[in-house]
Amino acid sequence: MEKRWWQSAVIYELYCKSFYDTNGDGIGDLPGVIEKLPVLAELGIDAIWFTPIYVSPQTDNGYDVADYEAIDPRYGTMEDFKRLLEAAHGHGIRILMDLVLNHSSDEHRWFQESRKSKDSPYRDYYIWRAPKADGSEPNNMGNYFFEGKGSAWEFDETTGEYYLHYYSKKMPDLNWEYAPLREEIYRMVRNWLDMGVDGFRLDVIGQIKKPAGFPDETRRIMPNGYAVDRSARNHIPGVHELIHGLYENAFRYYDIMTVGELSGSTPEIAIDYVNHDRGELDMNIHFEIAGRKEVPTTPRQYKAIEKRWSSLLSKNGWIVQYLTNHDGPRQVSCFGNDTVYRKKSAKLLAVLNLSMPGTPFLFQGEEIGMTNVYYDSIDDYNDPYTLGRYRMEVSEGKDPEKVLKDVAWVSRDNARTPYQWSGKENAGFTTGTPWLKVNRRYPEINYEADRSSEDSVFRFYSRLIAFRKAHPAFVDGDLNFYMEDDEQTVLFSRKCARETILVLANCSDEPAPITLPEEVKAHVFTEAVTNREGKEPRTELPETLEPWEATIFTLSF
Ligand code: NOJ
Repeated sequence: MEKRWWQSAVIYELYCKSFYDTNGDGIGDLPGVIEKLPVLAELGIDAIWFTPIYVSPQTDNGYDVADYEAIDPRYGTMEDFKRLLEAAHGHGIRILMDLVLNHSSDEHRWFQESRKSKDSPYRDYYIWRAPKADGSEPNNMGNYFFEGKGSAWEFDETTGEYYLHYYSKKMPDLNWEYAPLREEIYRMVRNWLDMGVDGFRLDVIGQIKKPAGFPDETRRIMPNGYAVDRSARNHIPGVHELIHGLYENAFRYYDIMTVGELSGSTPEIAIDYVNHDRGELDMNIHFEIAGRKEVPTTPRQYKAIEKRWSSLLSKNGWIVQYLTNHDGPRQVSCFGNDTVYRKKSAKLLAVLNLSMPGTPFLFQGEEIGMTNVYYDSIDDYNDPYTLGRYRMEVSEGKDPEKVLKDVAWVSRDNARTPYQWSGKENAGFTTGTPWLKVNRRYPEINYEADRSSEDSVFRFYSRLIAFRKAHPAFVDGDLNFYMEDDEQTVLFSRKCARETILVLANCSDEPAPITLPEEVKAHVFTEAVTNREGKEPRTELPETLEPWEATIFTLSF
C-alpha cells in the first residue's frame, strides 16, 4: 500500500471533560484545549482524537449522543470547535472525532420521535420488539453496565414494546438495517469531513449488525440471569457491508484516517475490517493487551500478542498501539510500578508503545506519568460501569469493601480524573469544583513539576517522539523478538532496508540478565534514548538491565 500520513503519525487521545477548564464550571472545554495546544505541539503529536464532545446528557460521558451535529455547550460552541480545528491545523496537528454509531442517547430527537408511536417515521431508527407472551423481554441479553435488573431490553409504556440497549437504557441501539438511518449517518459524517476533520475513531463499530432473530445467549450468564456474551454480539455476518457503506458514501472521498474499536477481534477477524483493498477501515483497536483485566498482560504474553498482530502489516492492513485509554486503568499503575519506579516505568512503557509496529495512541496524562485514583468511597465514582458492577456484586451479598477494592482497580475513572497541570488547588485543572475528584497525588505528579524536573517524563516522551519520527524503521521495519519466553524483559529489533533499531526493556523491579544472538552482538551499538538517569551512555550491549530500564540503540557495523 502506498504510504499514508497516519502510518507515521502519533495520536493523542484527549478526554476533553478532564483536560483543562477555562470557565470555572469544573468541566474541561474547547477553549482550554486551544490554550494548551502549544503543550501538545511540544510533545510532538500529529493528531488529537477527541472522545465525544457532541451534545449529550452525559449518562456515559458523551458516548450517549443527543445531537451528532452540535458541540455540547459544556465544551463550547461550534465556533470554538472551528477555531480549534484551525489552530490545531496551524500547529500541524490533525483532529479526529469519535463516531458513536451503535447507539444514541434516548434524548436524541430520533428516539424521542421513535418512541411516540409504532407508526412514527422514526420508529425503525431503533430496535423495537414485542414482549414475549408472558410479557417478558424478547431474549436474555443483558446490558453491559449491569444497569437495572440487568436486561438489554427496556419496556416502553407508550407503545407496549421493548427497545434494545446494549449499554444504558438511556443509550438505545440504532437500527442499521433501516436505509433512511444509514443515509442520515452518511450525511452527518460527510458534514464533519467537509468542515475539515481528519478522521474518526468508530466506537464499538463491530456490533452495529445485530444477531438475526435475537436468540438467547448461552454464554457468560450473570447471576442476575441475563447474559453478556460479547462474542455473540460482535462481528456478525453483514457487519462488513455496513462499514463498507460508510466508506463508499463518505470516507473514500477524503484523505482521512479511520480507526475501528473492535472488541473481541483477533488478527484473523480484524484483517477483514482493515485490509486496505476492502474499503472499510484503516486500523483497529483490539483488547488483548489493554482493557479491564483482573490480571495485567505479562511481558511474555505481550510479546506473543504483538507478534500475532504485527502480521497484519504484511497483509495490507494496519494496527493501533496503545497501553491504555479512557476505559481502563492508568498504564503505569497497570503495567509499571507507580510508586518507587513511577517515572522510570512510565518511560519504559512510552518506549514500548512508541516502538512497536502500527500507529501509537497515547492517552492524556500518560506523558506526565499519571496514576490510578482509588477513591475511598463508591460515591466518588462516576463511571456507570463501575457503579453498575458495584451495585450488582453488593446485591449478590459480596462484602462491599472487597467489591470497592475490586472495582477500583478496573474502574474507568482511573483514566478520567482531571489532568494534573500544577500543584495548585484542584491540580490547576479548574478554579471551580471538578466534575470528578482530582487524584490525591497531584501535588507530586503534575505537568509543571514534571516538565521542570531533571528526569521529566514529558520531556522524555517528546524526545522519543522526535526520535521515532527521524527513524523509518519504526514505521517500516519488521519486528524480531529475543528471549521471547522470558517473563521479565521485552527485547526486540525493528529492521528496515535503511537501518536497525534495538530496544531493550526490563519490565520488573529486579535487574534482568540478558543474552542476545551473535548476529545482534556483532554490531556497533549507539545509545539513542534511555531512561537511565545520570549515567554514561552505554556503548556496548549490557549483560544486565537495570530495574525498569528501557534503552534504544541504533545498530551499525
Ligand atoms: C466504548 C467507549 O470507549 C466506552 O467509553 C463507552 O462506554 C462504550 N463504547 C459505549 O459507547
